Amino acid sequence: MRVLETFREANYNATVEEIHFAHDELMILRVVTDGGKPPFAAGQYLTLGLGDCEPRVDGIPSVWNVDAPRLIRRAYSVSCPMLDENNRLLHCDECPFIEFYIVLVQRPIDNPPPLTPRLFALKRGDRLAVGMKPHGHYSIDAVRNGDNVLFAATGTGEAPHNAMIAELLARKHQGRITAVTCVRRKYDLAYLAAHRQLEQLFPQYRYIALTTREPENFDPEDPGYVGKRYLQDLFSSSDYVDTVGFELQPEDTRVFLCGSPSMIGLPTLDSTGTLVFPESLGMAEILTQKGMHLDEPSRPGNVHFEKYW
Ligand SMILES: Cc1cc2nc3c(=O)[nH]c(=O)nc-3n(C[C@H](O)[C@H](O)[C@H](O)COP(=O)(O)OP(=O)(O)OC[C@H]3O[C@@H](n4cnc5c(N)ncnc54)[C@H](O)[C@@H]3O)c2cc1C
Ligand SMILES: NC(=O)c1ccc[n+]([C@@H]2O[C@H](COP(=O)([O-])OP(=O)(O)OC[C@H]3O[C@@H](n4cnc5c(N)ncnc54)[C@H](OP(=O)(O)O)[C@@H]3O)[C@@H](O)[C@H]2O)c1
Repeated sequence: MRVLETFREANYNATVEEIHFAHDELMILRVVTDGGKPPFAAGQYLTLGLGDCEPRVDGIPSVWNVDAPRLIRRAYSVSCPMLDENNRLLHCDECPFIEFYIVLVQRPIDNPPPLTPRLFALKRGDRLAVGMKPHGHYSIDAVRNGDNVLFAATGTGEAPHNAMIAELLARKHQGRITAVTCVRRKYDLAYLAAHRQLEQLFPQYRYIALTTREPENFDPEDPGYVGKRYLQDLFSSSDYVDTVGFELQPEDTRVFLCGSPSMIGLPTLDSTGTLVFPESLGMAEILTQKGMHLDEPSRPGNVHFEKYW
């Protein structure tokens, strides 16, 4: 037990302030780091870590080297509550805690995910490791005040968008801001109420939720039947402008894509320098066809992206 105490003291630098479970497999985690928050910008990510000696929520016993537990670390975008307890805009800098939005990854029992089942076993007051160096170039730095901004995410990919949306609104952004999130079920929209409240407060803001596994997505007999629509289906259709509220035009639009790599669909370059997109249509190809450019370190563009795996 002394080994465990020494390990925790040496590695853990943060305390769980609060956990909100949207359901058993989706949580908003609020942590406070010892000695103040790291200086992250909206859109960046930090690492969270726990020892392989810590308990798992899935009942799989933790097996570790009793002399030397190992710290498991993963990247997590910093999210944001966006509103305070009085339903007023709150951006990350004003938050006394750091907020994360995390899904419990499922995998076969012979190859279980290392970290999320341990994060889901945390309780208020528990200790964990938070990397104090912010990472990533997913940022609203290049957004001009009049630009229309589209945030498109799958699942917990909306985490950095929440931080960026709150920041843009706090800066009194003049252009339109629309966030679209695609999830399996309605209960996977943990921030829905906050987004609806922001729509009331800020006329330039719109939030659109797409689901893929509700009866309305697969049952033509369902009175609200709309079919199954990925982000790519929405933005390939001619009616996306009505839904989103503006046209995606290279001159005045910034797009942010976060989450599943197949939704983003990044191209590779062939030997002649031509972009080769993946077989399954992703947002990158759709946006490129609309004249937009992917933001690369060597060539700044107006389509920014963050892949989660
Ligand atoms: C820059 C960056 C930021 C990230 N931010 C977040 C975040 O804010 N919230 C979050 O939940 N995860 C985020 N992730 C993913 C996170 O780092 C871990 O990969 C994830 O929590 C799984 O860890 P694990 O050890 O339990 O499973 P692992 O064994 O590491 O499992 C990885 C596999 O789980 C699946 N997976 C991982 N993350 C997700 C996800 N978010 N949604 C759906 N499937 C997923 C993929 O199939 C992936 O191959 C981010 C990843 C990166 C690279
Ligand atoms: N969300 C849950 O209730 C739930 C329940 C059990 C387990 N899990 C586990 O949690 C993890 C993550 O689940 P998640 O639902 O947060 O994330 P996810 O699996 O990435 O799904 C998020 C959304 O992205 C859609 N999607 C999938 N492939 C896509 C593509 N190529 N292009 C565009 N959109 C695409 C999904 O639709 P599809 O419906 O087509 O997948 C879903 O609507 C997984 O390990 C999963 O097994 C989640």
